[in-house]
Amino acid sequence: MPKTSERTRKFGESVIRGMTRLANECGAINLSQGFPDFDPPEAVLRAAERAAREGPHQYAVTWGAPNFRAALARKQSRFMQLPLDPDENIVVTCGSTEAMMVAMMTACNPGDRVVIFSPFYENYAADAILCGAEPIHVTLHPPDFRFDPGELRRAFEQRPQALVLCNPSNPSGKVFTRDELLGIASLAEEFDTFVLTDEVYEHIVYAPHEHTYFASLPGMSERTLSCSSLSKTYSMTGWRLGYVIASSSIINEARKVHDFLTVGAAAPLQQAAVTALELPDSYYKELQALYTEKRATFLQYLDAAGLKYTEPEGAYYVMVDISEFGWKSDAAFCEWLAREVGVAAVPGSSFFHEQVNRLIRLHFAKRSETLSAAGDRLLKVRNKVEQASYAARSEAAKALT
Ligand SMILES: Cc1ncc(COP(=O)(O)O)c(C=O)c1O
Repeated sequence: MPKTSERTRKFGESVIRGMTRLANECGAINLSQGFPDFDPPEAVLRAAERAAREGPHQYAVTWGAPNFRAALARKQSRFMQLPLDPDENIVVTCGSTEAMMVAMMTACNPGDRVVIFSPFYENYAADAILCGAEPIHVTLHPPDFRFDPGELRRAFEQRPQALVLCNPSNPSGKVFTRDELLGIASLAEEFDTFVLTDEVYEHIVYAPHEHTYFASLPGMSERTLSCSSLSKTYSMTGWRLGYVIASSSIINEARKVHDFLTVGAAAPLQQAAVTALELPDSYYKELQALYTEKRATFLQYLDAAGLKYTEPEGAYYVMVDISEFGWKSDAAFCEWLAREVGVAAVPGSSFFHEQVNRLIRLHFAKRSETLSAAGDRLLKVRNKVEQASYAARSEAAKALT
């Protein structure tokens, strides 16, 4: 029998998606994989009904339907404060997941180095491996997830081709400050490096923190491939609509990568999503208020349960410190939590390059009923931990391996 490729053996299946399967198997409330249990805005649903009836049902233009790109350019020019030409600066992809893969394949050659902050969203390491690129990890130190500028400079001294910037950041909830971003920008300039941003949480940021688009910093639009999607902003993770925004010379190359990877994103959904992109600015304010309230509700439960955590500045995840419970592995703890407490979380170690296994990630993009049901279960964690057998605490996770 021929053997499958070397590259497929260099990474495992997604731990996040594995936790969703475990949650489904044992009926746990799924606070692992980050998707809302509520629907996109009503007007967008109506537009989807119309698109189902009236089309289009055949391929859209490969790099995005013209009306979708026009609406996206209008919206993003406003928020990013950059002039964007829908025909020059945008390629529409199947979610930010494809956008990041396209960005990395466009920017990097096999053997190139890519700086990735750790903890990181698990796709980036797989993206780098699929491109034949080699990650250089720079630690975001818990609990406040700051990086050491000296460590970052040393990473740049290894002459990376690109840096991946997830901002606001999953899983840490960090929102990079303007000063931090200016520091990264000056290194990117000095060492002539691309910056690949993943900004899917651009509209989920908690005051007083503010999102700064990296491409909007002086001189950075030429070397930045800004990736994002509609998944989180409009609660439509299943629609698989994302995009890369960059200078026209970069987009010319990115279009080819995208074309041969997927041909294009779903045509009727692009049509319907124009309605989402045309929502007034009040929509984004309401989204911010909605998530600010969800964060407050969920953190109150964590406080009442006596759990230690880092308050997220953006996105909808919270990293909870489980070190005091004495579990041997965070993966085993998450399996126990799903089976015995009925709440699914993601073991923090799946996001870290370093040996960190004392954190777990929970998310709060859920309806109030779901959050209070999960919160009520979490209130019992301490009691249940005390009852848990020594064997449970020292066992390695079965379901995730
Ligand atoms: C940082 C980050 N990037 C990308 C994605 C996936 O986005 P999309 O649905 O647009 O592919 C997620 C999903 O959780 C994410 O957290």
